[in-house]
Amino acid sequence: MNILAIETSCDETAIAILTRKGNHCTLHAHQVASQIALHTQYGGVFPMMAKREHSRNIVPLFLETLKEAGVFTESKKSSGWKTRTVAKITKLLEREPEMLELFLKEIPRLQKPKIDRITVTVGPGLEPALWVGINFAKALSYVWGIPLVPVNHMEGHVLSIFPQESKTEFTITKMATPAISLLVSGGHTELVLVKGVGKYSVVGKTLDDAAGEAFDKVARMLGLPYPGGPEISRLAESIRDSISHGEIKKTITLPRPMIHSDNLDFSFSGLKTAVLYLIKKLGDLNEATKKEIACEFENSAIEVLVTKTMKAVKKYKAKSVIVGGGVSANKHLRIVLTRACKEYGIEATFPTKTLTTDNAIMIGIAGSFGKKVRSTSKKLLASGNMSL
Ligand code: KG4
Ligand code: ZN
Repeated sequence: MNILAIETSCDETAIAILTRKGNHCTLHAHQVASQIALHTQYGGVFPMMAKREHSRNIVPLFLETLKEAGVFTESKKSSGWKTRTVAKITKLLEREPEMLELFLKEIPRLQKPKIDRITVTVGPGLEPALWVGINFAKALSYVWGIPLVPVNHMEGHVLSIFPQESKTEFTITKMATPAISLLVSGGHTELVLVKGVGKYSVVGKTLDDAAGEAFDKVARMLGLPYPGGPEISRLAESIRDSISHGEIKKTITLPRPMIHSDNLDFSFSGLKTAVLYLIKKLGDLNEATKKEIACEFENSAIEVLVTKTMKAVKKYKAKSVIVGGGVSANKHLRIVLTRACKEYGIEATFPTKTLTTDNAIMIGIAGSFGKKVRSTSKKLLASGNMSL
């Protein structure tokens, strides 16, 4: 099964081409156009700006992906498309004029590649951004007659554990189920009970901010650039050992919100506010204080995430833990959660570093299990709040 996978739910335009034969996968091409540099200037992601960038980037990125996979072939027929086809595509892409122009210029000169299904993220995420990927997928499906598979982005993150760093071959191994999946990104913080591929139930989630969002907001308060997670982590790492060895005296303590609540939900907004009040109280911050705040904030966020994950593990007698999403790149989370799982006698699996953030490989994997639909299907509507 040859798969073309498309992801545009947030601030990365991503396209991948892979083949799945049984449980063996071969990755032919994988491209990501990140908008981080643009959004950094504004301190966050604005949906309409993200939409415009996806709309500008997606066709050139698709051509790059075809080239990387070695399937970029110009069509021998140079007659172009019938008026009816052009009219249909124009109607389909009317809300994304940048994409429409490039689509009509570039796609007619291509020979149809050997693709059996197009998998595309339909939610959750920013709806204007999601529509770019969905409409692009529909337009390709229409001109080339290839079926579509709608994919839930969060299922993609659950299944992002399979590919390995810089390897083009990987296997979809059997997960030790039931598993608990901790999904932590800029938009989501969820605990999911996984009974198998396609069998998910959300058993806990954040009641306010997502974990990544809290990292981003606290970073901003400390004058650090977006995305804040890696920046906070870098400062925290630079001081954690000195604090734990007693070489530097710990002077700051932040709350661990909901750590002892008897449910599996999270709250990060109070933690963020506690940092805000602390900064107001302290006045001008020197580098050492910034480092200590970053470290204590990270300790708090990770302690809560790990405690609640292990609570879910015990409640559902889970046989493994799967982590996904941007925050799963966090070194401290990896160390603390791996240790907690080991003590409990189970394994924690994290995605390889480059696949912690949004990518299309995971959308291809998830879509390889999904049902094909027609391009007119109601399942191909962007759904910002879609849940697993
Ligand atoms: O999954 P992702 O790429 O996009 C969303 O779907 O949101 O996650 C991005 C989030 C950002 O909030 C970023 O600050 C956070 O992941 N992040 C981290 C780290 N690397 C990225 N948070 C903590 N530690 C990190 N090392
Ligand atoms: Zn994501």
